[in-house]
Amino acid sequence: MAESVTITDNRTGESIEIPIANGGIDAADWRKLLPGIWFYDPAFSTTAAATSAVTEVDGEAGILRYRGYPIDQLAEKSSYLEVAYLLVNGELPSTQQYEEWVHDITYHTFIHENVRKRFMDGFHHDAHPMGILVSTIAALSTFYNDAKDIDDPESRYKQIIRLIAKMPTMAAAAHRHSVGMPFVYPDNSLDFCSNFLSMMWKVAEPRYEADPVLSRALEVLFILHADHEQNAGTTAMRVVGSSHADPYSAATAAAAGLYGPRHGGANEAVIRMLTQIGSADNVKPFVADVKAGKGRLQGFGHRVYKNYDPRAKIIKQTADEVFEVTGRNPLLDIALKLEEVALADDYFVSRKLYPNVDFYSGLIYQAMGFPMEMFTVLFAIPRTSGWLAHWLELLQRDERIARPRQLYDGADSRDYIAIEQR
Ligand code: ACO
Repeated sequence: MAESVTITDNRTGESIEIPIANGGIDAADWRKLLPGIWFYDPAFSTTAAATSAVTEVDGEAGILRYRGYPIDQLAEKSSYLEVAYLLVNGELPSTQQYEEWVHDITYHTFIHENVRKRFMDGFHHDAHPMGILVSTIAALSTFYNDAKDIDDPESRYKQIIRLIAKMPTMAAAAHRHSVGMPFVYPDNSLDFCSNFLSMMWKVAEPRYEADPVLSRALEVLFILHADHEQNAGTTAMRVVGSSHADPYSAATAAAAGLYGPRHGGANEAVIRMLTQIGSADNVKPFVADVKAGKGRLQGFGHRVYKNYDPRAKIIKQTADEVFEVTGRNPLLDIALKLEEVALADDYFVSRKLYPNVDFYSGLIYQAMGFPMEMFTVLFAIPRTSGWLAHWLELLQRDERIARPRQLYDGADSRDYIAIEQR
């Protein structure tokens, strides 16, 4: 059996045989046979817009690997900063490399006073923290003029360190601003996640001591959310990055992509859905309504996964550990019942609809005391390392500017008519 496809242009009888490599065929080959013919693929369901060595997702098998390492091993044994190093650099660090990386990130956690005082403090008191965060990432490009030197590896490294380091500081500042609490400066004696929790929750105590179980749970959630190949946010990063804009501007586009409820906002929708269901007894009628076309089961289904999302499995386990400390989230029983009912129902089984990463993550965040508006912000903090890994990769591979074609279906040519004659 040949590992290739043959395309024939029936208008001319010409054929071309194109090899299948890595599960795809190279557009450069068929473009020669079919000049001026575009493949119509809205939402890029069947288009690979890049080759990438960062993350592998096998949706049928329910597999997720960063740089070849299975997500469950990383979640169990690694730290978020080690995973960030792996994503950006391609290999796990040596002890020395890790220490330098952690040191560099730790000592870039402070934000310029004017970022907060002149910029973040200018937002309205009830501004959404994700809106504040998206805008503040963009504002960083005006503070670091050297970020435009995207051809200089040293400058690239500096911006990567800065952005990974400052995300928790800006995220916590966005929260504190939106609830009218004073800003908490980073404490560089703390690890990445404990430092973030300190900036979130510190009140008047001289030093905030995060519960180690909650700090570790956040670490696991950050690892699970660090990258997921070519999703909407990462695609935005790559598209803007391909124009050679600075990385802060590109990351702003990525964060804006994540902001939408079809992407990073789904865990919030899960909490709203579970609250609406109200009790485990109401699960069956709710599922019947979903099957009758009245809405969707939030946190279920995925464009790529046609199997249990491997991240959801790990999150479920993490939830148990968190609830030991915080007490059980009362919505958990409804979630468990919903999963049980759905997975036993042919509607969901036949469509391969399984819980995704968002099904349980909101329950954990809520139990840890995060307001729902912070859920997408919590997603953006670790995803920054994935965005930057993709940005770096596209520059290293000297990718061309992203520029899709369109199939024009508007008006034919027509003459302009003066306004008084229309
Ligand atoms: N509940 C009920 N039915 C569903 C669901 C769901 N959550 N998801 C898909 N279906 C059904 C559709 O109605 C459709 O049925 P049909 O064939 O009878 O018409 C079939 O399954 C296929 O659905 P599509 O819409 O084609 O799937 P698509 O790949 O476009 O959508 C998506 C994927 C957006 C994730 C979808 O499953 C969904 O809306 N899920 C709920 C929202 C959610 O959890 N999003 C988070 C995704 S993970 C992340 O972004 C981090």
